[in-house]
Amino acid sequence: MLVKTYSSTLCGITSTTITIEVNLGSGINFYLVGLPDNAVKESHQRIKSAFKNNGLKFPGREITINMAPADIKKEGTVFDLPIAVGILSVSKQINHENLNKYLMIGELSLDGSLQYCKGVLPRVLQAKKEGFQGIIVPQQNYYEACLVENIEIIPATNIKDVIHFFNQNKKPETPPIQPKTIKPHSNLDFKDVQGQYQVKRAFEISAAGGHNLILIGPPGAGKSMMAKRMPDILPPLNINEALETTSLYSVSQKVNFEGDLIRQRPFRKPHHTISDVALVGGGGIPKPGEISLAHNGVLFLDELPEYKRNALEVMRQPMEDQIVNISRANFSMEYPANFMLLAAMNPCPCGYLNHPKKKCSCSSYQVQKYLAKISGPLLDRIDLHVEVAPVSFTELSSEKLQESSKTIRERVRSVRETQNIRFDKKKKNRNNANMNKVEINTFCKLSKDSLELLELAMNRLNLSARAYDRILKVARTIADMDSKKDIQQNHIAEAIQYRALDKMNQYLA
Ligand SMILES: Nc1ncnc2c1ncn2[C@@H]1O[C@H](COP(=O)(O)OP(=O)(O)O)[C@@H](O)[C@H]1O
Ligand SMILES: [Mg+2]
Repeated sequence: MLVKTYSSTLCGITSTTITIEVNLGSGINFYLVGLPDNAVKESHQRIKSAFKNNGLKFPGREITINMAPADIKKEGTVFDLPIAVGILSVSKQINHENLNKYLMIGELSLDGSLQYCKGVLPRVLQAKKEGFQGIIVPQQNYYEACLVENIEIIPATNIKDVIHFFNQNKKPETPPIQPKTIKPHSNLDFKDVQGQYQVKRAFEISAAGGHNLILIGPPGAGKSMMAKRMPDILPPLNINEALETTSLYSVSQKVNFEGDLIRQRPFRKPHHTISDVALVGGGGIPKPGEISLAHNGVLFLDELPEYKRNALEVMRQPMEDQIVNISRANFSMEYPANFMLLAAMNPCPCGYLNHPKKKCSCSSYQVQKYLAKISGPLLDRIDLHVEVAPVSFTELSSEKLQESSKTIRERVRSVRETQNIRFDKKKKNRNNANMNKVEINTFCKLSKDSLELLELAMNRLNLSARAYDRILKVARTIADMDSKKDIQQNHIAEAIQYRALDKMNQYLA
């Protein structure tokens, strides 16, 4: 006799349905075929013990289990439950009638209880897409599974719950659904930042057009303070982005689901000692890295020159493709990585180069060495370079009311709307910052006087060719903020201001 059950395996943040065939033959062997990894192979022992501790019979015959499709690697322990149910059904301890309507996942403990699984959200989404009536998940994953509507979610605490469900149509008790609450991102607000109007303006341009931004300034100038406020001026995630981001956190077990999708843009601030793998993803059992956890949000690298140069170098390709590709001998997978890069640094080791009041104590060689630590190609991908000078004491102690993050966010939202109309809506995540050459030529046409100004500035400030496209893109965003169809001279003039590091060209490699 042959029985089929259904489960799923993860590949990046998507999932594939796996069919598990269980066959009883003569003899007393146990075969598991179809590219299972070690954790899957060990399921035999867990299942045997779970059966024994729950008074179930493990058939003393030859059991062959095939997992299809055979060319996909099956990882982890989530197949314990569907394999166990297959064995119980083939040995007539479970009614097989409804087995094809439900997808099952869950690791078994030796006592038969089910353990938390990672990546449940993408699996439920896939089960729904493929028309399964429902999915059986460990009870610990119930809230996460319930994020997907219009599919039956059966939470099970023990293998016995699953038997009762299939044999007596008795559903296990479901924990009460928690009310959906949207938590504010933080209680940080731009209204706490006194002065710094030019820097705040750069933040708004960055948020509006999706431009990467680097802040350069002495210690205590407020760089970190402002950077932490960036996510609050970005518009909230739309439903597709929320599903994507929540799926990423689900496969990396980085979230406690409490009844809602992640709706806020992520803000990741990895420490500068971070390894390449932790930053871009990968590892023995591949996991998303920080740049994927920052997908649809912000990656903040504070004190940029402190990071290992190599770690920054490996970010280059993913930044270009907005995807991380992980290849192994027998499989490859992708994690999305479309994030805004926000970086902060001192201009030199002592921090006071070009400071209006304090004297810099670094030699030109020291400055050069310091700046050489940041990767040139990474800087190439940053549109806005902004110098941050500390605010004066009078300004700091002033009680002048500053603009709130909410007000800025409203303006950002409307500029993003302009870009949605401009770019093909079918393509995801389009904004001024990721325009290609053709789009730049189409949407950033300059009048004669603007062109002249740009040429003059490029020559005077000794700007490199790479600055040219950056300035055009930023000018496009500034024109959008000004509700102008065409880029005007004043937009170009402002965009030229945000090239602080180009002016330090003499120090850069
Ligand atoms: N413009 C400002 N308005 C209000 N407080 C400020 C401002 N600039 C700096 N501060 C104060 O100084 C502290 C240090 O700033 P921080 O962001 O750590 O500087 P940096 O990262 O540039 O070294 C902040 O936490 C804040 O209390
Ligand atoms: Mg700081």
